[in-house]
Amino acid sequence: MTNPASPTNEPVGTSSPLDTLSAPATRRTVLKGAALAAAAAAGSGLGGGVLRPFDREAAAAPAHHGVFGYGVASGDPTGDAIVLWTRATPPPSTPGGPVATPGSGLGGPLRVRWELAYDRGFRHVAKRGTVSARAASDHTVKVDVRGLRPYTRYYYRFRAAGETSPVGRTQTAPDEPRREHALRFALVSCSNYTGGYFTAYRALGKRDDLDFVLHVGDYVYEYGNGPDRYGPADLVGKRDGIPATETVDLEGYRLRHALHKADPDLQLAHRRHPWITIFDDHEVANNAWRSGAENHTPGTEGDFLTRRREAYEAYLEWMPFRLPEQRRVAHQGTRFFKRFTFGTLADLSVLETRQNRSAQVDLAPYTKVGGGFIPEGVPAVDAELADPDRHLPEPEQLRWLEQGLAARGRAWHLVGNQVVFAPVRFPGAALGLGGGRFLNSDQWDGYQADQAALVSHLDAHDSDHGDAVFLTGDIHSSWAMDLPVEQEPGYRSAGVEFVCPSVTSDGFYELASAAAQGAPVPAVLASTRGATAAVTTTNPWVRYLDGVGHGFVVLDVTRHRVQADFHLTPEPTTAVPDPRVDPDIEPEWARSFTTVRRTRRVVAADGPVGRRRDEPHRRH
Ligand SMILES: [Fe+2]
Repeated sequence: MTNPASPTNEPVGTSSPLDTLSAPATRRTVLKGAALAAAAAAGSGLGGGVLRPFDREAAAAPAHHGVFGYGVASGDPTGDAIVLWTRATPPPSTPGGPVATPGSGLGGPLRVRWELAYDRGFRHVAKRGTVSARAASDHTVKVDVRGLRPYTRYYYRFRAAGETSPVGRTQTAPDEPRREHALRFALVSCSNYTGGYFTAYRALGKRDDLDFVLHVGDYVYEYGNGPDRYGPADLVGKRDGIPATETVDLEGYRLRHALHKADPDLQLAHRRHPWITIFDDHEVANNAWRSGAENHTPGTEGDFLTRRREAYEAYLEWMPFRLPEQRRVAHQGTRFFKRFTFGTLADLSVLETRQNRSAQVDLAPYTKVGGGFIPEGVPAVDAELADPDRHLPEPEQLRWLEQGLAARGRAWHLVGNQVVFAPVRFPGAALGLGGGRFLNSDQWDGYQADQAALVSHLDAHDSDHGDAVFLTGDIHSSWAMDLPVEQEPGYRSAGVEFVCPSVTSDGFYELASAAAQGAPVPAVLASTRGATAAVTTTNPWVRYLDGVGHGFVVLDVTRHRVQADFHLTPEPTTAVPDPRVDPDIEPEWARSFTTVRRTRRVVAADGPVGRRRDEPHRRH
């Protein structure tokens, strides 16, 4: 279902139950409904060349409302450094003149002063300086402030052209010599703007107890508002993508990022916590690999590597992301992967699995069974899936990860990861596929040599080397899993994996609902629950799977255990069939799972974590 105009696309209205499988992993669904079908028939320019009927207004509006309309953000906290971010729109050079809106390339340089203080009132300033906002970086600015104290609360703001930004709150990492601190952070992924209101971000912004927010990818999606629109029909006209067409170039990606930074809930979450982020595929195009993507059409969308370079450029401009030192670790291309340390408690390796990945196994012979899911047990496919020359991260990154996972001296090795790491076999019968077992070739299951090597590596190193906790997104559903060494009951486990639900992107429930058009909510819920229960039965290491709720996970790390609290939107009801379209419904605590040190297994926990006993230092 790459391009609605492509001949391989399934016609609207003929969803098979397989869509229930194929879409949550990586795919958008073609929206159903007469209104959207009519809009699709009217055409959006897709397939007819790169037409750019931009509506710049929503993404550009904050530029008309002052210098700092896109808010402030901070990111990539270490024990002594933090990245500060804003977008500083220069005032028009003449009254009523053109405004330097995102992506426009307009506007001269603007001198921006920044301050980082120990107190909200800025009486005790720790660091200050100036930086220049220029059109070359879309008037975004980043400051990598160094020489800070570990695990310390700071406040920051910017000033330019007589205006002052909102005050942001941030903190350095709990990475303090000779002192171990607890760690608490949120895990999020898959925030499709047209998929719903960002109430999960609002809920995070209200919290006072997070050291940072970890976003593991799909912060933006590339789709437009035409037949490729991704999200509920109820939000048409209320939450539309900007630009209106698929993002394919620098201007488009800049506008898409600006649209997100204009969202008040997202602004709040950035203003209240530092973020650690890494992109997945949709920051460029669906199911990207090293020289192409499922949702890239060279004939009409140009050269893929040019597109990707421009997408990365916009990402780095608009995100509080610090590029690691390029020469210190062997890598291919730009080194986006990075590692954070938290004293003797934990480290966090953040992977990047798109830039150098081998192409997904060719699905063409199997498209009759849909999407990115392919049948297990077809010899040619299985051999290709396990081909040792095919890689998800490039070999240099894999070695870097293995070194980190084997390092002694820390209780936990956390891994920020894009696509599901644990093996998952989807039972065909329970999902209406007529039997057999299926797997998703876009996740680690599609790169089984790397997957097996990493599991063996973990298994070969006992808990004295630390226990691994993979933290994953992508599949728009909530999971808690062991990492089995043998894929059978009675398996030995080499670590655990927690997968966060999407912020807004379609999950199993929405796909089941689309496939069973008009079915009552209780029936769709029952079929979703039945399908996910069958997945846990087929894969005994999957201890929890929810395909209904949206939201986030809070991770609480102590020397003794790592607990994952799943915060989910309430179950759909006949009265509220889609909580994502209600701007007042926020995720609430739903379930908790924990892994105790040296067990390498997840078990249910009684309730959410309580107040923190360990808070960052406040100097004033
Ligand atoms: Fe996603």
